[in-house]
Order: sequence, then C-alpha cells, then structure tokens
Amino acid sequence: MLCSVLKGVGGYLPTSVLTNDDLSRTMDTSDTWIRRRTGIGERHIAAPEECTSDLAVYAAQRVFKAAGISPEAIDLVLVATVSPDRTFPSTAALVQGKLGITRGMAFDVNAACSGFLYAITLADALLKQRQATCALVIGAETFSRLLDWSDRTTAPLFGDGAGAVILKAEEHSAPAGILSSCLYADGSQWEILYTDGGPSLNQRTGVTRMQGREVFRQAIEKMLESIRYLLVQADISLDEIAWIIPHQANARIIESIAERLSFPIERVLVTVDRHANTSAASIPLAIVEGFESGKLAFGQHVLYTSIGAGLTWGASLMRL
Ligand code: ACO
Repeated sequence: MLCSVLKGVGGYLPTSVLTNDDLSRTMDTSDTWIRRRTGIGERHIAAPEECTSDLAVYAAQRVFKAAGISPEAIDLVLVATVSPDRTFPSTAALVQGKLGITRGMAFDVNAACSGFLYAITLADALLKQRQATCALVIGAETFSRLLDWSDRTTAPLFGDGAGAVILKAEEHSAPAGILSSCLYADGSQWEILYTDGGPSLNQRTGVTRMQGREVFRQAIEKMLESIRYLLVQADISLDEIAWIIPHQANARIIESIAERLSFPIERVLVTVDRHANTSAASIPLAIVEGFESGKLAFGQHVLYTSIGAGLTWGASLMRL
C-alpha cells in the first residue's frame, strides 16, 4: 500500500528570547501571572530583517540534512502560516524559490494554529493520490507581527518559529506514516479569535483579538473530541499511543486534555513553556524537540491535535 512516511524533521527558533520579566517592564503583567495562567516562561522573537520565509528556509535546510534528502527531490511545498511575508505570492512559493526548487506545487495553508495539521493531511492526500512524491511541509510564523504589544491579554501568549517535515510516498506491506486524520471547521465562530485587519477589509495586516476564556473552553472540548473520534476511526487504543503532541497554546489546556483522557502527562510533549504559542509552527517544533531529546523514536504511534482561528481543529495519527 502507498503510505506517506516521515523522513525527517527540522526546526528553527529565532535567537532573540523575550522573557516574561522583559514583558513586565513594558506592560502591566508579571512572570507569576503569565506562568500560572498559561505555563509560558519565554518566547522567541524574529529579528526585524527576518521574515516568515527566512524562518521556514532555515527549518527546511535542517530537515534536508536530517533526512538526507536534497531539495531536487521535493515536488510539493506547503507552508502553513497566518503571517506570510506578502499578501502574494504565497510564502510557500518564496520558500520554494529560495531553496532552488522549480518543479511541483507550492502553496500556503491558512488554518491558523491548525495550519500544520491541515497541511500534513493535505500532503498525505496528495501523496496517496500520486499527485506528488515527496512533500516539504512547514509550519512557520512571525506571529509577533500580528500582536498589539500594549494588550496584555494576547501579547504574552505568542512567539515566532518554524518547523519542517518531509513526507515521502512509499510502498509498504503494512500501514506506515500517516495512518488517519480528521479535520474540522466552524466559521460561525470566527469572532472569538481573529485579526482586526486584512488586505481586503482595510488594507492593513491587523493585530490579534481574542475572547480568551471562550477559546480556552473550546480548545479543550474540540481537541478532546478530535482525539476520541480519531481513536475510533483508526481502531487504536490510547494505550498504543506513545505520545500525544498537542498544539502548544496554554499548559492548562494541555494538562486538562491529558487529565480528561486519563493519559499520563509524562507522555504529552510540552514546549509552550519555552516557545509560547507559535501557531502553525507549534506542533512541528514540538516534534523536532521530541526527537532531539530522545523522547520520540521511529516506530512509535504519535497523535497530533490542534485548534486555531476559524475555528479550525482536528487530529492526526502517525506511525513515526
Ligand atoms: N497579566 C496580568 N493580568 C492579566 C493578563 C496578563 N498578561 N492578561 C489578562 N489579565 C487579567 C485580565 O485583565 C483580568 O483582569 P480583571 O479581572 O481585572 O478584568 C484577569 O487577568 C482575568 O482575565 P481572564 O481573561 O479571565 O483570565 P484567564 O484565566 O481566562 O486567562 C488567558 C486568560 C491566559 C488568555 C486564557 O483565557 C487562555 O489561555 N485562553 C486560551 C487562549 C489561547 O490560548 N489563545 C491562543 C490562540 S488560540 C489557540 O492557539 C488555540
């Protein structure tokens, strides 16, 4: 059977680190408040000259090295982002150009914090339909440019970064790679999380506006619903899942999901304390860190889940 198999991962975090104490010097907040309510301790912020495509390219260069695959092999570039360099062309096209790839498809996926989940699911479908053979899937954000730095209810929550994976179509005798996915959206709820600008709306980029409590509530409900649905769809039990890799928005959301599933928190990857919420980059960056720390190993079953603006949400099961 044709499978979409993970060949490697690579990540990039900008060098500049902004701590909660740094933030408390410019807004009415504190390290104690942010840690207690979110679990976040610090976040990385892109340098002024760094664009989302730069972060994405750095992550891509690392995944090429890790996977031992060269850019010439890639015939599908997907970049999940809500902070593109330009309105057009897509950041994926810019990344493709910077990497010297001149064949296949390249386009962006905008599903906010669920962007990476949407993008790998789309790549999986295109690979299995033989529309492509080797996909570079990147989640990349300069989310710091979508923030109102005077708003203490949103600014502390986010950070910048990029994570990349390569998925290759391969024939296997038993199921491998991406085994099952479910994606959802409910556009009627867009007003709980949005930017107040856009090219068509007011010719501005806009900044993030959010009903935090409602997003918090929906995040737990929707990610739990996705995980439970996926386990049934894939006919697999939680005991067989080595790691849950949730979108990194808030440590309390993550802990609540683990608790409600009676899943050991020790088997949930957490990076939100050091990365904050990097939107579409949060899951691939967690995967990178999981491999680097030796927690993740090939052969394990891992389950990703995410929720983001739209609303968009879902889950995906992969045998690494
Ligand atoms: N520092 C100090 N005080 C703050 C801060 C801050 N950074 N932010 C809010 N407060 C204050 C509020 O002004 C409020 O004060 P008031 O009572 O005087 O009005 C008080 O703290 C309580 O505010 P709440 O919003 O009720 O606090 P809550 O416990 O809900 O925490 C938070 C807010 C952290 C935003 C939480 O709701 C949350 O994490 N929601 C999820 C949102 C999220 O993760 N979004 C990311 C994007 S979506 C996604 O990725 C899924």
